[in-house]
Amino acid sequence: MLSRVVVVGSVNMDVLTRCVRMPRPGETVPGRSVSLLPGGKGANQAVAARRAGAATSMVGAVGDDDFGRILRDFLDSEHLDLGRLAAVPGASGTAVILVDGSGENAITIVPGANDRVLPNSLDGIPLTPGDILLLQGEIPEATNIAAIARAREAGAVTVLNLAPYRPTPPDVLRDVDYLVVNETEFANVTGVGADPAAAMTSDRVEGLLADGAGVAPNVVVTLGAEGLLARLDGTVLRVPGFPVTAVDTTGAGDCFCGAFGAALARSEEPEQALRYASAAAALSVRSHGAGPSMPTDAAINHFLGSPAR
Ligand code: RIB
Ligand code: NA
Repeated sequence: MLSRVVVVGSVNMDVLTRCVRMPRPGETVPGRSVSLLPGGKGANQAVAARRAGAATSMVGAVGDDDFGRILRDFLDSEHLDLGRLAAVPGASGTAVILVDGSGENAITIVPGANDRVLPNSLDGIPLTPGDILLLQGEIPEATNIAAIARAREAGAVTVLNLAPYRPTPPDVLRDVDYLVVNETEFANVTGVGADPAAAMTSDRVEGLLADGAGVAPNVVVTLGAEGLLARLDGTVLRVPGFPVTAVDTTGAGDCFCGAFGAALARSEEPEQALRYASAAAALSVRSHGAGPSMPTDAAINHFLGSPAR
């Protein structure tokens, strides 16, 4: 039987405004467009995993407001299993996102219903040996900790994307199979973030990984256009990035995690799964929005020059 991807995480409505450049505090700048797009790191990863070919469950919560209904309809139209997606009283998670002319973003998140994704949300979640559990940092930490324990009991593989960063006890990180972070999050995880003299160059990342930093058995540090560095079973390796013109990098890390989970679910070797995920993320930055910009398995294989499945 094929393994599934189970995402326990956030669902947000993204209020995306494209502006000529980022406003400074107190300043007003012209905007080019505003759109409401489904997002949230959990939902983005679920959509990415599903489009990359994995049967995927989204465990989380939306509010009982208009955003909640729109978000659920979107996730449903993506053929996700929503049996454990609750509708709770109050507002859905909302992210206000500014994207400037160069594709850089700045984000404010109001968690809303995501704060109600408590450990009891995990009752009855489908996790069997070999399934892939994807977690991020936008729901209460107690729920992530409970989910990691569940996955271990079930023989499932856990991928924790510690985004946005929050301090996490080392024994929690030790219990995940893959820790996925960007350079800034990695600087925080390793504690070098507080040292202003220590710019997180890719050489520095490589050295820290070789020294065992990051605690988890496998650590992946995404480096944007530069690709990624990973430590898999003690071996440090580099996967180069794919050159693309970025129009919106929002959700690129989510796309990476979702596609990585889907590749692991069909038992691809981790190194191959990283390359596949890296290609998926490159494709996602070429179009606007987070959830809606996730590429299909066919598009990823085409981009990689691999035969269609
Ligand atoms: O990673 C991008 C996501 O972060 C956005 O979709 C937004 O909702 C925030 O959660
Ligand atoms: Na995008």
